[in-house]
Amino acid sequence: MMNFTKLETWISSWLLLMFIFQSAASQSIVKTLPGYYGNLPFKLETGYVSVGKNEEIELFYYFIESERNPNEDPLVLWITGGPGCSGLCGLAFEIGPIAFDPSSFNGSLPSFILRPYSWTKIANVIFIDAPVGTGFSYATQADSCYTSDTLSAKDTYTFLRKSAKSSCFGQYVDPDPSNVQCIRALELIDDDHMNYFMSYAWANNPAVQDALYVRKGTIKEWKKCNKSILYEYNVESVVSYHQLLSEKKYKALVYSGDHDITVPYLATLKWIRQLNLSVVDDWRPWYVNGQVAG
Ligand SMILES: *[C@@H]1O[C@H](CO)[C@@H](O)[C@H](O)[C@H]1NC(C)=O
Ligand SMILES: *[C@@H]1O[C@H](CO)[C@@H](O)[C@H](O)[C@H]1NC(C)=O
Ligand SMILES: *[C@@H]1O[C@H](CO)[C@@H](O)[C@H](O)[C@H]1NC(C)=O
Repeated sequence: MMNFTKLETWISSWLLLMFIFQSAASQSIVKTLPGYYGNLPFKLETGYVSVGKNEEIELFYYFIESERNPNEDPLVLWITGGPGCSGLCGLAFEIGPIAFDPSSFNGSLPSFILRPYSWTKIANVIFIDAPVGTGFSYATQADSCYTSDTLSAKDTYTFLRKSAKSSCFGQYVDPDPSNVQCIRALELIDDDHMNYFMSYAWANNPAVQDALYVRKGTIKEWKKCNKSILYEYNVESVVSYHQLLSEKKYKALVYSGDHDITVPYLATLKWIRQLNLSVVDDWRPWYVNGQVAG
């Protein structure tokens, strides 16, 4: 889910990224993926973009070409919120062309089904692992300074990890799905569901990382969300930036769910009101097959 309050922090990096993207140092076409039978029915490219003062940051991305008209269709940059959550979440759990198939999951490598309502049907989409520390992105200059504030959280995490270790008999990647205690313990560690668990089994599989051209040895472990990124919240409100963008007549689409209380839509409504835009058309429900869809 796009974290709008953090959108501004990305505008400058986005412009920089678009510039670098034209001549990305490392990019590979991915024709097949473990978990999907046959050739992928869409064009996937993965790669790294070096950013930072001394290019010491390597940001990993998944680029999927529009299935309609890639040259004319818009380009969307997808940053999963958190901050610290992988672009793969957007790709496999939200708007991408493939989704993990829970019905066929037996504890080994998960498989994919195609998602007919993917945004890549009408747009080119870059799913990025950002900021550094997210997904497969990494820094070449290791900085392991952790403040003591996170130490207690780390201790709790260690505690949960140890209880997971004992329930799962040391099997994190291929746990026995009938071992409910183990699955529960693993869910607790990252506060995730079984669906998310499949992304761990998939993204940490060496054959998958090879297929995605992930550089060997650059990250210890893929996590759906990295809660230990060294990230300073230094912008309190970005409303003035959004106002500026609307004054410059940029068009915007606000696409907001109403089922995630971590990103409450009431705050989104308040933010829209603060933009002081004039109302052209009234707020109303819209329908799909006779049902209210939003
Ligand atoms: C699990 O499913 C995979 C295919 O997704 C299959 O190759 C494997 O044999 C299955 N394993 C078990 C234990 O059923
Ligand atoms: C999380 O981010 C920190 C800071 O960038 C990094 O040191 C660490 O390796 C990352 N953890 C994972 C699991 O990627
Ligand atoms: C929006 O309009 C209200 C009422 O006219 C005004 O008080 C407020 O300052 C405006 N907000 C901004 C950010 O321009």
